[in-house]
Amino acid sequence: MSVETRIKRTTVPDIVARKGGEPLVCLTTYHAHTARLIDPYVDLLLVGDSLGMVMYGMETTLGVTLDMMIAHGAAVVRGAERALVVVDMPFGSYEESPEVAFRHACRVIKETGCTAVKLEGGERMAETVRYLVLRGVPVMGHIGLTPQNVNVAGGFRVTGRTEDTWPALEADARALVDAGVFAMVLEGMAEPLAVRITHQVSVPTIGIGASPACDGQILVTEDMLGLSPKAPLFVKEFASLGAAIAGAAEAYGAEVRARKFPSSTHVYGMEESSSDSSSRQVKKNSSIQ
Ligand code: KIV
Repeated sequence: MSVETRIKRTTVPDIVARKGGEPLVCLTTYHAHTARLIDPYVDLLLVGDSLGMVMYGMETTLGVTLDMMIAHGAAVVRGAERALVVVDMPFGSYEESPEVAFRHACRVIKETGCTAVKLEGGERMAETVRYLVLRGVPVMGHIGLTPQNVNVAGGFRVTGRTEDTWPALEADARALVDAGVFAMVLEGMAEPLAVRITHQVSVPTIGIGASPACDGQILVTEDMLGLSPKAPLFVKEFASLGAAIAGAAEAYGAEVRARKFPSSTHVYGMEESSSDSSSRQVKKNSSIQ
């Protein structure tokens, strides 16, 4: 691609500049082909550690490894040319110390080509966020329902449903901004609190199960495509691909069993004999397409 036609990738300052403006459109993705399809329509693509549950059938995100995130992150960066790509730091890869977090974040950025990382936690992760940002690693925060905390919380629990819990969550949001995050995900948070935090912080808030007042929205792509067997309440299905995939597999099976597929248009004929003057041309065109 020439320099003139190369598409400019969205930058971290581009995302920050959208605070209070046109809502940021964000989706998760884990593979190159989905990334390629949705890239023209989104500002930010998150390679979420939800891939453990969505792609690998795990019960929680806790089993996801750094190598898994790197493999999927690199695939998404290859597939998307416009959106800012953020890769999740998986459980156990950043909590131990700022130094460990920096080492692993550098692997993610070097080996995937993504622009930024996301990690879960508010006040307790602020020192680590500051350490990373000061050393050139843009960080997106994630507070509210933090799935990596599932065992401490005793489940995937909506946060902020009673006012006495608000000060701690507001302090989390403030601590992340002070530490230098460029945006933060508010997940599974009572709507009035998500509105309050959005008005209090200077960086974009990206809601998922939070509020339309957030500066952007994110969904797990497979959920909004209708591919997840049990999507949470906050998901709107914008397509029914689950039914479409099952229907296609059923139709394929029926045609194979009836010997209707492959038909004559899906099989290869013979090449013409080499004495034929046009044989060279035929051979040139006989590669599998
Ligand atoms: O892992 C993920 O997909 C996420 C989003 C739900 C925000 O963190």
